[in-house]
Amino acid sequence: MKARIAVLPGDGIGPEIVPQAVQVLEAVAAQYGHAFEFRAADVGGAAIDKTGRPLPEEALTLAKASDAILLGAVGGPKWDGLPYDVRPERALLGLREQLGLYANLRPAKLYPMLADASTLKPEVITGTDLLVVRELTGGIYFGKPKGIEKTADGERGVNTEVYTTAEIVRIAKVAFEAARRRRKKVTSVDKANVLESSELWRRVVSDVAKGYPDIELTHLYVDNCAMQLIRNPKQFDVLVTTNLFGDILSDEAAMLTGSIGMLPSASLGGRVGAGGRIGAGGRIGLYEPIHGSAPDIAGRDLANPIATIASAAMMLSYSFNLDKEAAAIERAIVRVLEKGYRTKDIQSPGCTLVGMKEMGRLIREGLGSV
Ligand code: IPM
Ligand code: MG
Repeated sequence: MKARIAVLPGDGIGPEIVPQAVQVLEAVAAQYGHAFEFRAADVGGAAIDKTGRPLPEEALTLAKASDAILLGAVGGPKWDGLPYDVRPERALLGLREQLGLYANLRPAKLYPMLADASTLKPEVITGTDLLVVRELTGGIYFGKPKGIEKTADGERGVNTEVYTTAEIVRIAKVAFEAARRRRKKVTSVDKANVLESSELWRRVVSDVAKGYPDIELTHLYVDNCAMQLIRNPKQFDVLVTTNLFGDILSDEAAMLTGSIGMLPSASLGGRVGAGGRIGAGGRIGLYEPIHGSAPDIAGRDLANPIATIASAAMMLSYSFNLDKEAAAIERAIVRVLEKGYRTKDIQSPGCTLVGMKEMGRLIREGLGSV
């Protein structure tokens, strides 16, 4: 197959890890006879430095003209003082909004040989295999009114948590469809004991569940969920939640897998079909590691490229239906970890410490193509 892939490395470790994933995709293309065309553009701080704007027209046009997007990370201390509407993070939020990427899938699966790499006890995290389905274009991230205004005795900062029936229905469907291809359990996470928007969320998710009698639905308050995630993560299959709660819980879930450097994600829009795949009439998917730009380790060959490489695997499966190829990448990652190679974030005694580039090369070698 032929596909156009937009490459948006961004900031910090982004420009280092993204080429590793591109090289893995190139290796897959060569091995399986596909033609992937890669085009790059600046986003985030890198774009601010060149154009003054985090999401220049060029990057947005490129993204819109592509079949899928591979993104690194955005942000860094250099741009922290800027006003919100021109900060690097706006590039991500703008892409999500402009491309209608309302469904963010963040799988957190523990590779068994990394059970010792987590700060949590191995017996607690062993067997963790869950999927966070985070609503991505609504809630408090985008709700209005928002802003900071002067008052008689200081200032007032406002954001608004808001969800409509339609927004809740479509994200709930993504979660139920995903659960059908997994262990058939959905946990909806809200704060319905306090927030009206959550009361509606819970009611609508329960209504959508009636169309999925084969799926078991439970509801949890977000504070309890945060606790349950580190108490007994094995109880979870699919978690569906709002933009802000999903942001927080997915970072927490990342630590169940040993390191935040391991977690990929897919952001999808349009009609997301069975299992979370982009079906006919679907839109462009955006794939990125869930970790940030890690400016403290940027440029030092220390980053873990696995989250980005695994995001490329998600692209193959969700955007292009290339399941065999995606599985080959996942197998290559497992093989390299089984052989005991580790980047610094997942290093444990007795394992071989390697840099980011070497980890990327080993994974390509694991594909049988180096
Ligand atoms: C994430 C990130 C982003 C978010 C930031 C960088 C805007 O934390 O993708 O989880 O909050 O959504
Ligand atoms: Mg986050």
